[in-house]
Amino acid sequence: MAQILVCLRGWNVPLAQAEVAALLPNTDFTELAPRFMLTNDTIGAETLAETLNCAAGIQCFLRDVKYFNTNEDTSDKFYEKITTMLSSAAVRGSVAVRTLRISGRIDGVSTRTMAAEIGAIAVDQGNSVDLAQPDYEIGLIADGESQIIACGWLVGDFDDSVGTAPRRATERPFFKPVSLDPRLARLSVNLACGPLDDYAVLDPMTGTGGFAMEALTMGRNTVAVDMDEVMVAGAKQNIDWALQNHDHHVQYQITQGDASNLQQSVDEIWHGKISGVVLDPPYGRNSHGTLEHFQLITATIQSAKSIVATHAKLVLIMPIKPAEHEIVLLHGNWQDFTTLMKTSGVEIIQYWSEHVHASLARLVILAEFTNEVRH
Ligand SMILES: C[S@@+](CC[C@H](N)C(=O)[O-])C[C@H]1O[C@@H](n2cnc3c(N)ncnc32)[C@H](O)[C@@H]1O
Repeated sequence: MAQILVCLRGWNVPLAQAEVAALLPNTDFTELAPRFMLTNDTIGAETLAETLNCAAGIQCFLRDVKYFNTNEDTSDKFYEKITTMLSSAAVRGSVAVRTLRISGRIDGVSTRTMAAEIGAIAVDQGNSVDLAQPDYEIGLIADGESQIIACGWLVGDFDDSVGTAPRRATERPFFKPVSLDPRLARLSVNLACGPLDDYAVLDPMTGTGGFAMEALTMGRNTVAVDMDEVMVAGAKQNIDWALQNHDHHVQYQITQGDASNLQQSVDEIWHGKISGVVLDPPYGRNSHGTLEHFQLITATIQSAKSIVATHAKLVLIMPIKPAEHEIVLLHGNWQDFTTLMKTSGVEIIQYWSEHVHASLARLVILAEFTNEVRH
């Protein structure tokens, strides 16, 4: 059976796994290795391309993948499987074998030698080799952590940098230290909204527009709100800049308004059409004490609840102390916070932490809006 492998980027593997589940909710995956997710399901070419265009945590896909564990097997059978993969391919043309090593080395394995071997098999099967402009690319990935080598038709590329790199906070026309890492912003939008749709993502406290830029450049309609008119003007500037080289037909609204009164701040056309909410509330210098900080979050959640679509999710980013065994919020108590979440009508599904620097990490909380409010 033809299998598809998703190879994840290494910057936050658990978050990348969650992103795959969010973007491909109807596909069953098994974990071959932390950075290799495998499925027997069919995923159409268009969906693969769209998923890659959205994702921050996916490196590439390998279609009709063959793999082996170097601790358990020799490469002979692997080459036999690749011969089958190439002979059963419906197309012939020029190919290039691209190689990638992830999570360290595999002793005694040269991906370059293996690539040459696979290139020779491809030629035997009636193809030619063209490294510059091939009709098809074959991907060969060696994962040092699991000692697994995988090979298949490459969808995507082996580029090291996520497509968000040109939108790093310091590159933008309007910059404030509150800006999120665009990779994390992009991934959060995907966790909250799932696959692309005609609805909109809502960012009720948009600041410099970090979530909005990522949502719009992947083709999602976006509603962004901020109380501070300087932020609204700056976010607009950033969004126009980020959209310069994108031809997505996206709609967006960016408004000065109060996150705790979204009924009023958000255009009516989007009421009921919000597929997900991303929330990065103020903290530190911006916040006015712990209680108010939590109250602002709950008021925002309750307000968002009245305009979101059924099944909309929320991603909330909270600053925490890094590398603690338990969660230590920088502002407020975690137990108090989880109780408050329940009483404001959201159910926490899962959370992950993302390192920022020695004294700061971010907790990424995924929650769903529930109908009942629990006390
Ligand atoms: C941490 S910053 C958001 C940073 C943003 N994620 C970015 O990438 O730039 C929080 C933002 O919330 C805004 N804010 C605070 N209270 C608000 C309220 N009641 N309604 C709307 N925005 C609010 C602040 O003006 C600030 O821009």
